[in-house]
Amino acid sequence: MSVAPGVPLLDLKAQYAQLKPELDAALARVVESQYFILGEEVDALERELGEYLGVPHAIGCASGSDAILLALMALDLGRGDEVLCPTYTFFATAGYVVRAGAKPVFADIDPVTYNLDPVSAREAAGRAAKLKALLPVHLYGQCADLAALEALAASRGVPLIEDAAQAIGSRDAKGRSAGAVGALGCFSFFPTKNLGGFGDGGLVTTADAGLAEKLRVLRVHGSKPKYYHHVVGVNSRLDALQAAVLRVKLKYLEAWHAARARNAAAYDRRFKAAGARSSAEPLEGGGFPLRFPHAPAAPARHIYNQYVIRVPAERRDALRASLTERRIGTEIYYPVPLHLQQCFAGLGYKEGRFPQAERAARETLALPIYPELSAAQIEQVATAIVEFLK
Ligand SMILES: Cc1ncc(COP(=O)(O)O)c(C=O)c1O
Repeated sequence: MSVAPGVPLLDLKAQYAQLKPELDAALARVVESQYFILGEEVDALERELGEYLGVPHAIGCASGSDAILLALMALDLGRGDEVLCPTYTFFATAGYVVRAGAKPVFADIDPVTYNLDPVSAREAAGRAAKLKALLPVHLYGQCADLAALEALAASRGVPLIEDAAQAIGSRDAKGRSAGAVGALGCFSFFPTKNLGGFGDGGLVTTADAGLAEKLRVLRVHGSKPKYYHHVVGVNSRLDALQAAVLRVKLKYLEAWHAARARNAAAYDRRFKAAGARSSAEPLEGGGFPLRFPHAPAAPARHIYNQYVIRVPAERRDALRASLTERRIGTEIYYPVPLHLQQCFAGLGYKEGRFPQAERAARETLALPIYPELSAAQIEQVATAIVEFLK
């Protein structure tokens, strides 16, 4: 009996196969130059990304995590300061608040978008006497409610820092580019991102020339001029090999976003046909026990770094196991909200504190959504899910 080929969660080999001559030439160019740290390739990438994102200043750094650290350092945030972020995100969002010496203040998420809930954020901000910044995340590639969060930031007189690690090219309800709205935007080029390098890489964006200058100094140990230090920075430089790879890939980014959106729409249609509804309707509302991601209306844009479904908690892990058996890749982003992580126990949050995040951690599952997926592969994944949940 022949076994159907599997569908991986992500297939970077398919992307490399398409771009191999261009990528290999870009890498060879850097190797020939023997210039590996910052330099012309990084300068060019920063210019090109600034244009793409519509921001005056884009500063490359070593990772998305470092982008958060550098943003906090540029704002002089540290000991005794509080930074508000969602509890449902990748660890770095809060981990690097702590790394900067500050204290994360968690808030719950909106169950429709999985992004920071402005009501919960307002409550949390109300209890944070030393609040110095808001750090919303554009989770899975969809913008948080930036207008509401800008209003909250303004009412407290604190800056907004956007964790746009998963959201390059995403747009908010007003059509504004992720990372171009707050005082600072933080991006990651981790290989699984829509724009991913051949290793780690990150970027900080800002419209403020003073902050941009500070970031450029902070990423080289606070050195300016060379070997003279008015501040203590970090070693967080983007390397030329990453920049060369990212410059090639940037030319294809819009086409990849479009392919991901097409794939998302194909899943949506297939799940809808089975009776499923979008995440705008809770699972208790009945119907087929699956909620596909709520797609925001234009001018907002979801870039589908992840396509995340919601299913009843008691069936989620069995569904995942059944898909694994059929060699269909899935992932749980994220199984433990940050307020319940052991390393943050000292902050005093207890289970039940943020019910939407805790529920999402039990009910969500990310499916393959990468641009090179074929219609047949999407059908294979959707059919396996619908058959299991039926
Ligand atoms: C929301 C979020 N924040 C921060 C990061 C950190 O980025 P990096 O892995 O490049 O350090 C990531 C990426 O993994 C992320 O998804």
